[in-house]
Formats: sequence, structure tokens, C-alpha cells
Amino acid sequence: MLMAIRGGKCRPRAVRKPSSDLVYAPPVPFVTFEGVEGSGKTTQLALAAERLRAAGKTVRTTREPGGTPIGERIRAVLLDAAHAELDPMAEWLLVEAARRQHVRDVVRPALADGAFVLCDRFTDSTEAYQVAGRGLDAAMVEGLDGRVRGGLAPDLTLLYDLDPREGLVRAQGRDASPGRFESAALEFHERVRSGFLAAARREPKRIAVVPAQGGADAVFALTWRVLSERFGLS
Ligand code: TMP
Repeated sequence: MLMAIRGGKCRPRAVRKPSSDLVYAPPVPFVTFEGVEGSGKTTQLALAAERLRAAGKTVRTTREPGGTPIGERIRAVLLDAAHAELDPMAEWLLVEAARRQHVRDVVRPALADGAFVLCDRFTDSTEAYQVAGRGLDAAMVEGLDGRVRGGLAPDLTLLYDLDPREGLVRAQGRDASPGRFESAALEFHERVRSGFLAAARREPKRIAVVPAQGGADAVFALTWRVLSERFGLS
């Protein structure tokens, strides 16, 4: 039996059956955009936001690490190439600290307001970068990450798949100086890509793999096809 804990006392909570009009659960419009460095996910997120707004939807765009004042400060620490000595577990814990604040202050309130939340990276990046890339223990990361998110999971994830060699060239052309992750060895980025693709094989319903080699417009045609099918948009 489920128990409600209030004022330190446990009381039985009635388990209500959903009435027939509650059986259809519309998808929660929490969409995450993932991929290796330079995969174009940030551009695709901006184009998706524009198109959803044109379709009359309320849209909240955000990113990880970041999205809150505290999260943005943590992001600056994580991305600073001068912090080469950052320990992999410390890196992961910083990611989770930023996520906790972000889920509580931004993602959940926006979803409660009925907004489409488009998030640049989320928990799949942790599996790809910290588990596949850095080699942290998967069960340890999964366990804490699930608690940090309070079980919140994306309804849909668009994974922009690209050879990291091509992505790094694109990223280097874009950024004035490479950040801490971009500066990592190619083998690290290859493990990151494999980590993303493993997640996509495990959860094919949630994660749509979008080939990202083409130009932004061609890739956006694929992005919109996935979004419109999932959310019944035209
Ligand atoms: P980006 O927004 O330019 O992709 O940069 C964010 C960086 O943060 C990216 O290199 C990947 C890294 N990151 C992790 O390592 N783990 C995570 O869980 C998240 C969300 C990002």
C-alpha cells in the first residue's frame, strides 16, 4: 500500500483508479537535444523553438549544464580549459549539482505551465560523457542521476549523430578557443558518440537518431518530422 508521509507520520493513501477520461495521457513536451561536439543540436533547438512558436506553442528553451544563475556558474567552471586538473568524479558531481537546480527551478515549473521545454543536453550527455567517455561506474551515475532528476525523463530526445572528427572541426571553426571538453582526445569523443548510440539502441522509442552531416535546413526537415509526428503538429 502507498503511504503518505506528513508531519513525520505515515498514513495510508488511497490508490485512485483513473476515470476513463484520464486514460489518455498526452506526451509531456519535454524534449532534449543531444549529440557530440559540433553536431548542430543547438542550431536545431533554436529552429525548433521558432517553428513551435509559429505554431502557437509556448516554448521554453534552456540548456545543461546551465539554465539557472547557479548552473551557468557551474557551466563556466566545467567548460574552462584552464581547469585541466578537474577530477572526473568532481566533474560529474558538478554536472549533477547544476541539473538539480535546473530541474527544480526551470524544467518542472515550465512543464507545469504547459510549455514545450526544449533542453540543450540532459541526462543522456551524462551517460555519454561521464560514463562512456570518462569511464565512471554506470550504476553509480544512474543511481544518483535518477534521484537528482526526481525521475523526470524526456518524452523525446533528438540525438544528432555525427563523426566526432567532423564535429570537432565544426566546433573549432565556431569557438574562439576550444573549451575543456573540446580539448579532449578524439578517442574520448568517439567513446561519447558510442555512449549516445548505445542509449538510442536501448531506448528506441524515446531517442530518435538524426543523421547530422547535412546543412542546417536539411537536418531541420528531419527534426521537424520527428517533432510533428510525436506531438501531432502540422
Ligand atoms: P555544449 O552546450 O556546447 O554542448 O557544452 C556543454 C558541455 O558539457 C559538453 O562538452 C558536454 C558537457 N556535458 C557533460 O559532460 N555532461 C553532461 O551531463 C552535460 C549535460 C554536459
